[in-house]
Amino acid sequence: MTSTGIRLHAPAPGWSIPADVVVVGSGVAGLTAALRCQAAGLTTVVVTKARLDDGSTRWAQGGIAAALGEGDTPAQHLDDTLVAGAGLCDEEAVRILVTEGPDAVRRLIATGARFDESSEGGLALTREGGHHRRRIAHAGGDATGAEISRALVEAVRERGVRTIENALVLDLLTDAGGRTAGVTLHVMGEGQHDGVGAVHAPAVVLATGGMGQVFSATTNPSVSTGDGVALALRAGAEVSDLEFVQFHPTVLFLGPGAEGQQPLVSEAVRGEGAHLVDAGGVRFMTGRHELGELAPRDIVAKGIMRRMQELDAEHMYLDARHFGAEMWEHRFPTILAACRAHGIDPVTEPIPVAPAAHYASGGVRTDSHGRTTVPGLYACGEVACTGVHGANRLASNSLLEGLVYAERIAADIARSPLQARDPHPLPQSERPAHPLLPPEARFAIQRIMTRGAGVLRSEASLAAAADQLERLHAEARDALAEHGKTAEPGVDTWEATNLLCVARVLVAAARLRQETRGCHWREDHPERDDTAWRRHIVVRLDPDRTLATRTTDGTDFPPTLHATQEQ
Ligand code: SIN
Repeated sequence: MTSTGIRLHAPAPGWSIPADVVVVGSGVAGLTAALRCQAAGLTTVVVTKARLDDGSTRWAQGGIAAALGEGDTPAQHLDDTLVAGAGLCDEEAVRILVTEGPDAVRRLIATGARFDESSEGGLALTREGGHHRRRIAHAGGDATGAEISRALVEAVRERGVRTIENALVLDLLTDAGGRTAGVTLHVMGEGQHDGVGAVHAPAVVLATGGMGQVFSATTNPSVSTGDGVALALRAGAEVSDLEFVQFHPTVLFLGPGAEGQQPLVSEAVRGEGAHLVDAGGVRFMTGRHELGELAPRDIVAKGIMRRMQELDAEHMYLDARHFGAEMWEHRFPTILAACRAHGIDPVTEPIPVAPAAHYASGGVRTDSHGRTTVPGLYACGEVACTGVHGANRLASNSLLEGLVYAERIAADIARSPLQARDPHPLPQSERPAHPLLPPEARFAIQRIMTRGAGVLRSEASLAAAADQLERLHAEARDALAEHGKTAEPGVDTWEATNLLCVARVLVAAARLRQETRGCHWREDHPERDDTAWRRHIVVRLDPDRTLATRTTDGTDFPPTLHATQEQ
């Protein structure tokens, strides 16, 4: 696979450093990959967009799922994962996850992560949606991600892994043969490594997290702008399953116009016995699924949306008043504090909740060693599509996936012959080849995507979204063509350009998939269609700037559906 030659418009790199491996991102996946690479004797550099602990991992509440409890087995964890994935999980990828998972969690504990213990002294395990067993390990009650992040950041510092913070990755560097040769990045730092530079390395691990910021309301932090997926597309890598965006059912409702990162109310609250009710106190999930309020996440999100439609309501409620103050304070201190900060006391009143964008089940397509279709480029964590999640990720499988596949990537890199590669020279021209979007385009994209490609989708809503996204792009392209002008290179304009890139692919894939499956809900195609759609949509950006789409079973789309878009 060769690079498309499409790059973010940016100044030429003013500095460079060499490494064996550059890891982009510092969540559970990135830091685990970095620690394992360093332990294997590889010169490793971690670059991360903000501070080391500013990504999505820190915000994870519920926990990390693994068959660690008495009577539980990897086979049962596999079954629950496959059911949640609605026919699209790669069974081998899931088998790897569930069999390697328990030991990977034990290694995480050995690295320093402290999980909550039960009164008998073993790990305290809880339940979440779609799990038939108590198998979610948690820390600090509902601060699991924060504890994992603390332990890994501490280990990275103690073991002297080189890190570059406040560094937005721009593009992949490749050699003349199309093999990975490093990345370009922009650092907001001081001194030697400031501005645009490069890390030259024959192995690049993308662990950049998700793209929740493509929607107005999301549980993701502001850094989750799809940078890794956009970089991979420009580098010529394949991405898959982008239409499967998971909307978390219970996000604190802060009003209809709430934008940006919203407080999560973990599924573990339902796992411990909270009820979903409407304004009249009716438990509307009863009878909709055998697991009721603990059904897989897509089913609960749909149940909430349907009840909201039936009652013309803006939100539903999560009622856990029966927990009492002590349990709230001990088991869910983070959620309690977030609710109280917004004037809601869950001890005495039900919590208003509504679904919001939470997790990208798709991403950069990899094999079972985390290799993408570009030699030397790896991906793990939310940015990757390993095949584990299928059409809908099972709750708390993501931290585990980051951990297990990061370890596999490090093992693969350690056993490959690594040879420094000369990056293909970057074109030097005053005039940008491709337009950048202005910073305010971010909010336009978020509104377009929320209206047209949110929880409920249809051909009409998706076509409108595609047109509006196209208009944003056309304005930027025409300004460049007619006046040689584009937005100033900078973090805001690079992020907005990345958001547009992933939004367009997401909408194209969502239009193609004319069925309802997992977290992809088409009002105009309300049934799951296993005859036509038990396959994945794979997208690649071609050098001629079209999106090439294919399905994993080799059959093509009807010509009218074949998505080709000018970039
Ligand atoms: C939650 O705590 O509900 C989120 C866990 C996850 O997304 O896996």
